[in-house]
Amino acid sequence: MAVVTAIPIVALDFPDSQRAMTLVQTLDEKCRFYKVGSELFTAVGPDVIQWLRDFGCDVFLDLKFHDIPNTVAGAVRRVAEMGVRLTTVHASGGSGMLEAAVEAAGARCGVLAVTILTSIDDATLGEAWGRPGVEARAEVLRLSDMARAAGAHGIVCSGQEAGEVRARHGDALKLLVPGIRLPGDPAGDQARVVTPEAAVAAGATYLVLGRAVTEAKDSRGAMEAVLERLA
Ligand code: C5P
Repeated sequence: MAVVTAIPIVALDFPDSQRAMTLVQTLDEKCRFYKVGSELFTAVGPDVIQWLRDFGCDVFLDLKFHDIPNTVAGAVRRVAEMGVRLTTVHASGGSGMLEAAVEAAGARCGVLAVTILTSIDDATLGEAWGRPGVEARAEVLRLSDMARAAGAHGIVCSGQEAGEVRARHGDALKLLVPGIRLPGDPAGDQARVVTPEAAVAAGATYLVLGRAVTEAKDSRGAMEAVLERLA
């Protein structure tokens, strides 16, 4: 049997639980880890998390918190109580916010610090932060140092920076890589995309698979294609 070298997580980016449940049942044993993001969570609330856990799946709740430390700690504590395995906060919330999130998450829920969104290129980053000439790559590395110092389980970055982050931090940080595309797939709103095998070669621990699977005519076939590339 082929050995899969990174853990694939399929993003349930849907407006209702029916479509999410249908995909989970279609993929069945091909995927046992799902991302619930702001669209699905806002639409249906925590019930979908319990449903996924009852179905035997692990849950990554990706709400990308960014607030004062006390508020983020409260939210992360509730997330951990739901039995969620991984959750996200923005690294740019600062060390105090990251430390508060890590403490609130406890031992069973891993906090991932989102560095620079995979939809952001250098020009957009310079515009957003008012610093022309800023590089997403350099910012990811800087924020990864902060995440490690705060005790985060890992970071979210694109496959384009994952190799450098892995070389810098070794196994001290898990790397979750979104923006995964099969050759020929449209990038959509993503700016820093890589193939599944490139993400694994760069040292990704987890891959987030979104539209490459959810919008495929044959989602199960697309998932199988990704798993073959990962093996
Ligand atoms: O459909 P696509 O593969 O672009 O979906 C990527 C998924 O990963 C989305 O659910 C998105 O919210 C998430 N994500 C991301 N970039 C980050 C963090 C999460 O694209 N930095």
